[in-house]
Amino acid sequence: MICENLGINPDGNLTFANRDVKVLAEKYKTPLYLMDEERIRHNCRAYVDSMKKYFGEDSFPLFASKAASFKSIYRIVREEGMGVDVVSAGELYTALSADFPSEKIFFHGSNKTDSEIEYALSNKTGYIVADSMEEIEAIDNIAKKLGICQKILLRITPGIDPHTYAAVATGKVDSKFGFAIETNAAYAAVEFALSKNNLELYGIHCHVGSQVFDSDVYFKTSDIMLEFANFVQKNYKVKIRILNLGGGYGVRYEESDPVIDIPENIKAVAEKVKAKCHELGMEVPAVRMEPGRSIVADAGLTLYTVGSVKKIPEYKNYVSVDGGMTDNPRYALYGSKYTVVLANKMKEEQDFACTVAGRCCESGDVLQEDVILPQSVQRGDIVAVMTTGAYNYSMSSNYNRVPRPPIVMLGKDNEYIAVKRETFEDVAKNDI
Ligand code: LLP
Repeated sequence: MICENLGINPDGNLTFANRDVKVLAEKYKTPLYLMDEERIRHNCRAYVDSMKKYFGEDSFPLFASKAASFKSIYRIVREEGMGVDVVSAGELYTALSADFPSEKIFFHGSNKTDSEIEYALSNKTGYIVADSMEEIEAIDNIAKKLGICQKILLRITPGIDPHTYAAVATGKVDSKFGFAIETNAAYAAVEFALSKNNLELYGIHCHVGSQVFDSDVYFKTSDIMLEFANFVQKNYKVKIRILNLGGGYGVRYEESDPVIDIPENIKAVAEKVKAKCHELGMEVPAVRMEPGRSIVADAGLTLYTVGSVKKIPEYKNYVSVDGGMTDNPRYALYGSKYTVVLANKMKEEQDFACTVAGRCCESGDVLQEDVILPQSVQRGDIVAVMTTGAYNYSMSSNYNRVPRPPIVMLGKDNEYIAVKRETFEDVAKNDI
């Protein structure tokens, strides 16, 4: 199995977080998002403990909440000692509604509106990560209006190709995000930020990409960022107190994906950072990392019920389920791989090649191609898609007016509905 929270019980059913998923499908109905709270906590601790151990007491990770944003996730990551990153006033609102401490919130985004900035500043958001000259100007103006001095970080584009898929690569010079070092935009941004009376330039941030397995990417990124920080400190007489290295460690969607040892990776990056600081003769800044996917992905599993099995001899077979691109658009968008199984027939021979299709009225609504299920697959069987905790619920939609599934959080000794199933009334609630 791709993660240790998965198993098979004597009835031949898939287990997740030590529960029989068939029982959960009957109890909560499908489609259904399940989340394993212990796994989320385990993943948080891997970052919190090793960042503290290898970078120092003032370093900690931020949960990139775009991966999964709902109130109880903010409570869980808070309890585990993480900060959060938000990318919209909507995520910020959700974090604040869950009583997340505002001083541990970093507000990102390549185009924040004035009203979002005002909302963030009025709510004492710890740090705004500025992405453009216009934003630096806007944050300063709004801070002036509110009579405060706002801590900011600058999003720097280090010019790194992270070897991941194009939609999630963000560190290259031609990226829509941030100020590139190569074009000198980064230096101009520092000067501009320092000319503002209501801003405190506190640190620098970068994020080179997502689903990254190559540790060399982080070595190169931290080298470039530290050289930049050192230059800024020397030439502009400002202290770079925070170095934020962004998110991005990959997770296992399939058996063939490598296992990333997070503590070992953090240890190696920390050694690199310390050595570089030593070489440059600079103090080691406090470090932030922003994992999203690697905190929640393998803590998630989605269950569906099979509706039909269509065999087109000599062409292909379709198994249609009661969800699809509305609850998981990642195959339709990126061709993302997933491990898909028939959760109530785990012990049967798997020899039926099929496409698992969603219920929406378009051919592109596919959850996965080339899936192998048992021949006996039929209406009423339960399909499970693994590793769906990241960027599934957060990217879901109501296309075809399909209500979103609930999220059931599975704790060690308890379980609770973290997000309710949408009703038809919810789906139509803003219609006049
Ligand atoms: N920090 C920043 C500034 C980011 O833009 C991201 C992800 C992260 C942290 C978290 O990266 P992670 O640890 O999750 O790799 N929807 C796409 C992923 C988009 C990622 C966007 N930024 C997907 O489903 O694959």
